Parts: sequence; C-alpha cells; structure tokens
Amino acid sequence: MAALIIAPRLMAVGGGALADLPGLMSRLGLAHPLIVTDPYIAGCGILDRATALLDDAHIPWEVFKDTVPDPTTDALDAGVARMRARIDNHDFDSLVAIGGGSSIDTAKGMSVLFANGGRMREYKVPNEIPLAGPPVVAIPTTAGTGSEVTRFTVITDTETDEKMLIAGLACCPAAAIVDYELTLTMPLRLTADTGIDSLTHAIEAYVSRRANPFADGLAKNAMGLIARNIRTACAEPDNRAAREAMMLGATTAGMAFSNASVALVHGMSRPIGAFFHVPHGLSNAMLLPEVTAFSAPASLDRYADCARAMGVADESEGSQSAVARLVDELRRLNADLQVPSPREYGIDRARYDELLPVMANQALASGSPANNPRVPSAEEIIELYCRVYE
Ligand SMILES: [Fe+2]
Repeated sequence: MAALIIAPRLMAVGGGALADLPGLMSRLGLAHPLIVTDPYIAGCGILDRATALLDDAHIPWEVFKDTVPDPTTDALDAGVARMRARIDNHDFDSLVAIGGGSSIDTAKGMSVLFANGGRMREYKVPNEIPLAGPPVVAIPTTAGTGSEVTRFTVITDTETDEKMLIAGLACCPAAAIVDYELTLTMPLRLTADTGIDSLTHAIEAYVSRRANPFADGLAKNAMGLIARNIRTACAEPDNRAAREAMMLGATTAGMAFSNASVALVHGMSRPIGAFFHVPHGLSNAMLLPEVTAFSAPASLDRYADCARAMGVADESEGSQSAVARLVDELRRLNADLQVPSPREYGIDRARYDELLPVMANQALASGSPANNPRVPSAEEIIELYCRVYE
C-alpha cells in the first residue's frame, strides 16, 4: 500500500529564518493573522521580534497569548472566541503559532473548531475532521514536538482529563519556520525533555507497523542528529551547532512520525501526562528504555538499525548485541539527563495504582499501541507502568 505523505507547503529552515515570516505569509496569500502564543514568549522578546516584522510589512495582527501547557478544551474555547472577534472588519485568515508544542497544538485545535464548530472530542481519532480551517504558520521555540510539521494535535478534555489525539490534513500547518536561534535560551530541563521526545518520535516512527521508506530515512537522520547532540545541547546551551542539529532532528523526526506513527511509548505517556501533569517529553523519557526492552524482541533488526543510526553500535555488529547497546544507551541517557522515575517525580503510589486500569485503557484507546511492533494487552501495559514506577 502506498504511504500517504502529509507535510507543510512551505518551510523556512535555518538560523535567522524568523525574518522570513512576512515573505512566507505573502507567498501563501495570508494578510490577517491572529498570533497564538503563551505569556512567556509574549514577554521574552520573541513575540516582539515577530510583530515588528509584520509591522514593517504592513500586515495587521492581533495576539491571543493565553495558551497553556498541555492545551485544554477550555483554553481552546477562549482562543476560538478570540478568533470570532474580527480584525479591521476582516475575518482572521490565518493563525501564526509561536512557542512550544502547546502553542502550536492550540492553534491547530482553534483552526479545527473555528471551521467545524462543535466540541473537540467529536474529532478525536479515529473520527475525521470534515473541514480545514484557517491555515497555521508554525514557529517552534523548542526542539521537540515536531508539531510544526505534523498532522496531529493533542488536546486535554477539561471534563474527563483525557489527552485526546486529533489527526488529519486539517491539523498540518501550511507553513513552518524552523529557526534554531529561537532555542538558544531554552533551559536544561526543557532541552532534555523536548530532545528525548523527538528521539522517541524518530525511534517509534522507525519501528512502527506503519513505517514506510519515506519516513524511515527521515527517522534515521533524526536519530543520528539527536543522539549525537542532545548531551552537548544540555551542557552548553549556547552551542549553536548542537542547537541547530537538535532543531533539525526534531523537525525531521516530526515529519517521520507524522507519516508513519508513534507507538507504545506515546500511547502510555499521554495518560501519565494527563493525570499527573508530567511534561510530555519527560513522561516519554520515563517510559522509553523499558518500553524499548519490552518491544525489541518483536522487531530486533529494526531496533538494531536504531542503535546504528544513533552511533551506539557499529554496522558489523549483530542485531541482538546492537539492541542491548540501544537499551543501555537509553538508560544512560536518562541518567545523564537526570530523568526522574514517576516515584522520584513525586507521583503518589496509591493514586498511580488506582488509576492503572484507566491509564491502560486510555493508552489502548488512543490507537498508538496497535502500531507497536509488539502489541501489548492491558495487563502487559499495567505491568510496564509498574516496572517504570521505581
Ligand atoms: Fe511526542
């Protein structure tokens, strides 16, 4: 079966690419943007740089800056209400999302709800999104989610705490500006968490049952860039070469998983994030080594390729030994980047145990575990949750 590839129409990639914002908008015929961002980006100077560029190009703009980490349906509704208030007697014809995955995911959700009405849960996977909304121009300020190039958004339902996966052409940004200079001030924890998120995207895309040759090349490229640069980017925040590699790795990993899929790590990670408010990359990191050890026997050669792409096993090494090196490296990476276990993070054991069946069901319902090389039962997912707790 042919792979159906979705990607932005236009991308500006490289240091200083932010300056291309007005040019990208005019190429796409967009003239009345609502900027979607968060209070940090609104205050740190990045928003001011973007709006100065729009002012110079005589593009009128407004800002919605109330996006929240792990976007909720409530925050989304406020954004859609903001969209309905028009600008200079025009409808907003586009959303310019500036920030981490949360701001970009919020803009995608706003676009979907603005065009289709109703409530976000009506569009969660496997439901289709009938209409595409105003195009999103995505400008990531972290190197991680890859949301700037993916067909996905993840929105938490305020009423049920469920992290819903929403997917489709309507969720893919029309354009992306991938400027690593915007990540030079990212603090260590955010660099580590978002970096491991993108490494997880690349590994899961490559081992997924929906892997394809187009996504494979992107995933391997991303694994090499991220594995060779993540420690340096964390230790030397202003190392431009490491930051550039991490940004490229995150975006290519995003393009890989958007066109293959994620798998069990992401399926299990969303409920931890939703119930215990653990940042997305961090909950992935907690799970990645043990889920890899669980899954690898079902796809030894593909996981061995990951070890080789990351530079921890050489080409001549057998698959079994390469996979052992991969699991070792993922454990070592967590130790080096001081990734806490759920217990060390302060998650209450009794509450965790009580929620295990719900978390396992939500993980399975997301569909991601079905793409895993080894498809787990609910009991096996619960066992894995227990194994990573300590
Ligand atoms: Fe992710």
